[in-house]
Amino acid sequence: MTLEQKLKDLEQEALSAFKAAGSLQALYETKVKYLGKQGAFTGLMKEMGALKAEERPVFGKLVNLTKQTLEQAYDGAEQALRAKELEAKIQNESVDLSLPGPKRVVGTAHPIAMIGDEVVSILSHIGFSVRTGPQIESDWYNFEALNIPPDHPSRDMQDTFYIDEKTVLRTHTSPVQIRVMENEKPPIRVLAPGSVFRCDSDISHSPNFHQIEGLWIDRKVSLADLRGTIAYFIREMFGQDMKVRFRPSFFPFTEPSAEFDGSCMICRGKGCRMCKQSGWVELGGCGLVHPRVLKSAGLDPKEWQGFAFGFGLERMAILKYGVGDIRQFFDNNVHFLRQFAR
Ligand code: PHE
Repeated sequence: MTLEQKLKDLEQEALSAFKAAGSLQALYETKVKYLGKQGAFTGLMKEMGALKAEERPVFGKLVNLTKQTLEQAYDGAEQALRAKELEAKIQNESVDLSLPGPKRVVGTAHPIAMIGDEVVSILSHIGFSVRTGPQIESDWYNFEALNIPPDHPSRDMQDTFYIDEKTVLRTHTSPVQIRVMENEKPPIRVLAPGSVFRCDSDISHSPNFHQIEGLWIDRKVSLADLRGTIAYFIREMFGQDMKVRFRPSFFPFTEPSAEFDGSCMICRGKGCRMCKQSGWVELGGCGLVHPRVLKSAGLDPKEWQGFAFGFGLERMAILKYGVGDIRQFFDNNVHFLRQFAR
């Protein structure tokens, strides 16, 4: 076989090897095999010594042409493979935009917090603003200053969580009345919403629940103002058709004292199971601030007078939404809580 023939064969072999290479790596190895320093092509050049002197330039030219052809073929094959690999990469990394994304769970305000906000919002329109007090309270603020004597039943160990002999978890929001009257000059018109604690637990009692306290102190605040304030609040909260009723009652820190009822929100006063056919539901307690309470807080009862009221927020929510068990507000089951989302 002539050298020329060998060159032609080698060219064909290399061309088909470039075409067959399935990856850039394989293609590169093929290039080394044929065109590299130790490659088949170089081996062929060494055999040129066997040619006659006048044949060498002719063959040399042929070799250079072949080399050019092969290098072009290599470049073409390399480009094709790069394009193929890019295509494969795009295919593998593509995003399916029709797939649902990860769900972001958004919470809602707790129904009791929402009721509290609503009460505050309604009463802020007639000049009430919010104050807070500690949940761990001294015997003085929770009881003594509110004219609750040491032998009063609400001090019973069964109702009150004692931390020590002189410290309790507040059993109502009324201690905030004293703290505000101590710290602020009348006229005073404040609301004190917050957590309270009693040693009691069943379908309608929770050891932790929430109250909102109202206090209005000025020179001439009367029972009529109290009635007007409560009636305004209940009608704004539950509807203008609501009736309001006051029943004489007793609290150590108010005199006179009353409990206030509203028409049943379920039957609108006609009588149903919820209101035990009476048409009325109990909402809270109220009264004119007892002179002894004013004195305990450092106010002169001859100069200042006023009223206070207090009610439970869970009770409001139960009546408003018809919830059967108070404990549901504390279980934090999102399926329950989500129903109140606005
Ligand atoms: N503190 C009373 C209770 O917890 C409610 C109340 C507040 C009554 C203010 C009268 C005046 O039952």
